[in-house]
Amino acid sequence: MTSSVHEFTHYADVRTALADPHLVPSPARSGPVGSMAWLRNTVARFSTGDIHARRRALLEADLARLDPSALRRAAASGPAGEARVIVVRTLAESLGLSDPDAVAAAITVVAGTYFGGDGADADADADAAVAWLLPRMLAAEPEVAANRIGLLVQACDATGSLVDHARRAAGDCPVAHSTETLLAETLRYDPPVRAMYRIAVRGTRVAGVAIAEGDLVTLDIAAANRDPEVYEDPSAFDPERSGPPTPTFGGEPRICPGRNHALALAAGILDRAPGEIVEAMVEHVLTLADTWTAWDGRPAPVDDRIYTPHKAIRRVADHLVDHLAEMEARLAGTEPQPDHWHASETTTPADLAPFTQADLDEAHSRLSRLARIWSNRLNALTPEQLDQSPGSGWSFRRLALHLAGSVYYADAIGFLAPTERRTP
Ligand code: HEM
Repeated sequence: MTSSVHEFTHYADVRTALADPHLVPSPARSGPVGSMAWLRNTVARFSTGDIHARRRALLEADLARLDPSALRRAAASGPAGEARVIVVRTLAESLGLSDPDAVAAAITVVAGTYFGGDGADADADADAAVAWLLPRMLAAEPEVAANRIGLLVQACDATGSLVDHARRAAGDCPVAHSTETLLAETLRYDPPVRAMYRIAVRGTRVAGVAIAEGDLVTLDIAAANRDPEVYEDPSAFDPERSGPPTPTFGGEPRICPGRNHALALAAGILDRAPGEIVEAMVEHVLTLADTWTAWDGRPAPVDDRIYTPHKAIRRVADHLVDHLAEMEARLAGTEPQPDHWHASETTTPADLAPFTQADLDEAHSRLSRLARIWSNRLNALTPEQLDQSPGSGWSFRRLALHLAGSVYYADAIGFLAPTERRTP
């Protein structure tokens, strides 16, 4: 018998489906202890019924040891880095794990395949990372260790994306908002987890639709968050809006147990010095660029433009230079010089050239130096200069947030080939 696929996009239907005990995440098949398959088969996330309840209790016990306010302070003050790395390192440190940096590196490898279904089991790097993590979780019981790894994996990409999306939204928003309202609206407008998937273990019914045993169900969270019957003017980013909580963190009995921790970690990272935001943006761009020597020469269409590796690097550099010129002119009390970039509309013959190792080396030197100039400059400013900046235009703190949006150009090309990963 073939199974059907049902998709729900309305807020009320998504809520109903999330609460339906007959709709559960697809179970994971097992594998040898310490492998990726074993991890997926042993965590709460892909379990159901009493086994889910038992594993969820393990997660809740771990999370109860972590005070969200302390996490926020730790995420705001620890070493700089990409948001995902700060999230995992902060949690690992707070759980008392040794070598939190190496744990964060291993968790990012596991996170790359954790949600990929059983097909992801074949990833040797992920297997090696799980095997490395298992004895380092300070747990005698493998099930406790697996769920501690699961907790860190669940936190990694979702919270990192929330930070990226909130920075982008803040950079585009005409007025400044509190971190809390900014995060709440970002969770609705641009959710880190855009869809959830279920399989029917028994026949059931959602919004009048009959779902047979074995059918697959997609819950479109991003669409539900913009349901016009629930949110007024849903396509507008409005941190001051009111409305019911979004299904971004899921629903009982599987609602994200780390939601308060996620908000605290994201707020802590957003509290960090603005110079770091620019450095983290460039780090993200260069991580992707490291794979672009494998580019096949075909431009990537995004929105109404096309992008190539050279064009992405050019746009990121132009953007950094453009606002740097503006900030320096305003600090010097002079008029900013108008720019004459061709911007993204034009694709030059040079943009279409192959992206070689020498180009990559130049990109590293150029962009990392520009980022350092920005962060040295921003770090030397007083809080008043950052928030009530001289001259007309955005505050310099907001300019830094706006620059975080430059990842757009690099994301247009994306990750093109596996690079050598650091498997501890
Ligand atoms: C903005 C960031 C986050 C978002 C949007 C998010 C969202 C979600 C969602 C939607 C689920 C339920 C999945 C489903 O029902 O299929 C979930 C589960 C889970 N989340 Fe989060 N999460 C975030 C951050 C975190 C953090 C920081 C932690 C830990 C500190 C965490 C730990 C977990 C765990 C352990 C589960 C599995 C719970 C279970 O299976 O019962 N999450 N998360």
